[in-house]
Amino acid sequence: MAFPSAWLDELLHKNDIVSVVSEYVELKPKGRKLWACCPLHGEKTPSFSVSPDKQLFYCFGCHAGGTVIQFVMDMERLTFYEAVQNLANRVGMELPNEINDREMQRQRAYKKRMIEANTEAARYYSRCFLDPETGRDAQKYAAKRGLNAEIVTRFGIGYAPDTWDSLLKLLKGKGYSEKELVDAGLLVHNAERGSVYDAFRGRLIFPILGVNGQVLGFGARVMGDEKPKYINTGDTPVYNKRNNLYGLYLHRNEKLDDLIMVEGYMDVIGLYKAGVKNAVASLGTALTQQQARLLKRYVEKVYIAYDGDAAGQNAMVRGLDILKAEGLEVRVITFPDDLDPDEYVQIYGKEGFDRLKDNALSLNAFKLETMAKGYDMNDENGRERYAKTACAFVAGLQPIEQERYYKLIAKKTGYALDALKAQGMRSGGIYTEPNQTPVRGGFRRRIDAGEDPRDVIERTLVLACLTDKNALAYASRENAGQLLKNAVFAAMMNAMQEQGSAFSAVKYIGELDGKDAEIASAVLKEEDAVQNPVETVADCIRRMNREDEADRISTLQKRLNRTDLTAEERNAVLKEITERIRANK
Ligand code: GTP
Ligand code: MN
Repeated sequence: MAFPSAWLDELLHKNDIVSVVSEYVELKPKGRKLWACCPLHGEKTPSFSVSPDKQLFYCFGCHAGGTVIQFVMDMERLTFYEAVQNLANRVGMELPNEINDREMQRQRAYKKRMIEANTEAARYYSRCFLDPETGRDAQKYAAKRGLNAEIVTRFGIGYAPDTWDSLLKLLKGKGYSEKELVDAGLLVHNAERGSVYDAFRGRLIFPILGVNGQVLGFGARVMGDEKPKYINTGDTPVYNKRNNLYGLYLHRNEKLDDLIMVEGYMDVIGLYKAGVKNAVASLGTALTQQQARLLKRYVEKVYIAYDGDAAGQNAMVRGLDILKAEGLEVRVITFPDDLDPDEYVQIYGKEGFDRLKDNALSLNAFKLETMAKGYDMNDENGRERYAKTACAFVAGLQPIEQERYYKLIAKKTGYALDALKAQGMRSGGIYTEPNQTPVRGGFRRRIDAGEDPRDVIERTLVLACLTDKNALAYASRENAGQLLKNAVFAAMMNAMQEQGSAFSAVKYIGELDGKDAEIASAVLKEEDAVQNPVETVADCIRRMNREDEADRISTLQKRLNRTDLTAEERNAVLKEITERIRANK
């Protein structure tokens, strides 16, 4: 943000929210707040409130809310910067001159020093790596991982010696304070003992560079099997992992056709060495919107190539929607046998990778593949059920796209194209494509004491699908049926997917046994619990996923407490927990 905080404080102080809002609507006091009909959306009864104490506004109707700056942004359709300008004009404040502003200058200088300290550290780690004595083990490890001299230079790979204070001494000697070095993430401060020490010890170092080539942080890998495998620079004044992509700086002056998104340092490096030079890594976190925007500045097309393991595949599904929402063309590369990109190119080389890239799946094909994992495809029954669900999904796509996906299903199941198309038609021939996952306005129903929340959510989801064909299409596409724990709901969902618009709830329930019929008809009793069906489905899916994931983690945590685990098993469980927690960040 471009404004010094003291200046912003003054701006907010002078622009009392009540006086600003009063220029647009007449506010009437009631209780501790002031009220009006919302100027941001049309309404007849006042649901727009201003709190003079908190200096905030909130509309209970359209859910807009925030500070006076946000109000001006919404009201005048301005950017943050423009709204601040507008408010400054209003009270006759001059905009801070960036060059002259002391606070701004101080922050700039501080960041600059931090980058300089990082650069010094990177040089030091590099010297240690290259030193025949100090770097012996690191060189051996690097050689084992196939990192030759060219790669070491290109990626600035280094080694942090296994001591507590070698970097500390060096950088203090160069005039950096302990606070600066702790802020930069190079030193760790132990509050209990009141001591500081080197953050990275006995590890291989991967400097993380920003797009203009400045050293922003580091990744540090153990050279054995200890945990944690990597220690990465956390958030600092110059580095935030959510805003950066590892390896992107290599391409700052290039015109690229596409970029390949991978998970880790070693994937970028392994691919580079094999001749695939355009990979960048999100560094183990779920892909963020900021990263997607960054990609968009470089390319129109992104291949996403996450690890073949379950954690990687799950992260991929989420990443896809984020990339698509930014308007990027997305393709999916999947690796066989749980291999990661680095391992894959080591075995199959660039040719192998290029083949995978040529055959990369579109978003929809990937979803059809993922869907197939929920069925036993070696069994006639499983293939039949898959085909029905898959056809309902394809019938929801744009007509021109359908052909090739029916072919794909035909290939997977062995059913004739005509039969599949007929099946698709039967499921309603519906089309819906919410262009991004809706975030709010979904599940609204209150869950009363004594109700099982999961049950309510599942019921609501089924109801939403029952009342709206777009919601059903959305749920099929997201494989929502497989999240349902209640077998009665799951079966009903399946029937809706298979029969599409031919489905009749009354008839279906009529054919069930007494107990099941009772459970199923509870769905119908919800009546108007659903207002925005597609949003409701999305929200229910989100809630169920979150709950399932929490369950899985807690089961794993219980396993950890068992006494009969071998060290190896313990490590495996720990690793899975970490991966799952990390994937959810
Ligand atoms: P190698 O095992 O050396 O091949 O590393 P990799 O690059 O293949 O990493 P992996 O796929 O295991 O993990 C992907 C990324 O997640 C890494 O590059 C790190 O950024 C991050 N990561 C992995 N393990 C850890 C860990 O133990 N702690 C933290 N904080 N991050 C990790
Ligand atoms: Mn790897």
